[in-house]
Amino acid sequence: MQLKEKIDQLLDEARKIRLQSLEEAEQYRIRLLGRKGELNDLFEEFKQVEPAFKKEIGQALNQLKNAIQEAVQKAKDECGTQNGPKDMDDLDLSRPVDGRIGHRHPLSQVREEIYRIFGKTGFDISDGPEIEDDWHVFTALNFSADHPARDMQDTFFIERTGSTKDVLLRTHTSSVQIRSMMNRSLPIRTLCPGRVYRNEAVSARAHCFFHQVEGLYVDKGVSFADLHDTLLYFAREMFGSDTRIRLRPSYFPFTEPSAEMDIACTICGGKGCTLCKGTGWVEILGCGMVDPNVLENCQIDPGQYSGFAFGMGVERIANLLYRVNDLRLFSENDRRFLAQF
Ligand code: DAH
Repeated sequence: MQLKEKIDQLLDEARKIRLQSLEEAEQYRIRLLGRKGELNDLFEEFKQVEPAFKKEIGQALNQLKNAIQEAVQKAKDECGTQNGPKDMDDLDLSRPVDGRIGHRHPLSQVREEIYRIFGKTGFDISDGPEIEDDWHVFTALNFSADHPARDMQDTFFIERTGSTKDVLLRTHTSSVQIRSMMNRSLPIRTLCPGRVYRNEAVSARAHCFFHQVEGLYVDKGVSFADLHDTLLYFAREMFGSDTRIRLRPSYFPFTEPSAEMDIACTICGGKGCTLCKGTGWVEILGCGMVDPNVLENCQIDPGQYSGFAFGMGVERIANLLYRVNDLRLFSENDRRFLAQF
C-alpha cells in the first residue's frame, strides 16, 4: 500500500472512532502515537518520499497526527468527568483545597494550643529525631547504667552495642532537651514536642507510642518559683482561669528536685469522682529543676546557670479536655471519632 493510502485510511479511522473509556483511549494512543506506534513508522517511510511529494504527504501526516490527538482528547474529556480528573498530568496533589475539608486531628489541636500558651511566654519549638542513641535518651539525662527504663521491657531497641551508642526509639522527648543544650546558645526557652515509643501492650489506657511536649528553660537565676508560676499560667490557660494546681514531690533522674503536677479534677472540680479516683486531683505532667549533672553533661556550668524542665503527654491533656476514654481512638483514623472535633 502506498504511504498516502495508509495515511488516508488511518485519518478516516481517527475521524470516525468512538473511544469508550480512558483505557481504550490510552491503548489507541499508544498504538498510533507511542514510541513504536504506527505514526512513527509512517514518519520513517516519509524519509524516502520524493522531494516533489514531500509537502503534500507531510501535511497529510500532520493532519493525521492532529486527528488522532483530538480523538484521544475527546475521549479523555468525556470519560474523565465521570471517572476522576480529566488528565492525570493536571492532577496536583499539593494544591491547597478550596474551603475546608476534614478536621484537624484532636492531638494536633491540643499540641497547637500548648504551643500558643507557652509561645506567649517566649518558648520556641525544637525538633529532634525519633530514632535516637542511648546517650541522648538516657546517659546524658543522668539515668544510671542499671536504670529499669533502659530495660528491654520499656525500650524498643534497634541495635544493641551495649554502650551509649545503642540505637533505639526515643522513650521521651527529653532527648531533644539534651540536643538543645548541646547545640544552642544560652539562654534557652524551648518546647520539645514529638512522638515517643514504649514497649507496652496496647490497651485502652496504654499504647506503644504516644505524643509528648516537654519544656526547658535554662538561664541565670531560674528558680522553682519560675517553674511553678509558668505551670500555673499554663494550667489556667488550658483548663480555665479558676483551675487549681498542686505540685507533689517525685523523682526523675534528670531533675532535682522533681515534682508531679496535678490539677483539680476537670469533672468533679475536686469533690472526687471516678476520673480522679475519688482524690479530687488528676496528674498532668512531670517537672523539676534540671539536675546539675545534666547541665554538666551538656557543657553548661551549673555554678552559673540553672533551669527548669517539664514534660506532658498530649493524649492525657486531650483526654481531660475531651473525655476520650480509649487511647487507641487517637491513632485509628476512624472518621466517626475525628469528625467530632
Ligand atoms: N521525660 C518524662 C517522661 O517521659 C517526663 C518529664 C518529667 C519530663 C519531668 C521532664 C521533667 O522534662 O522535668 O515520663
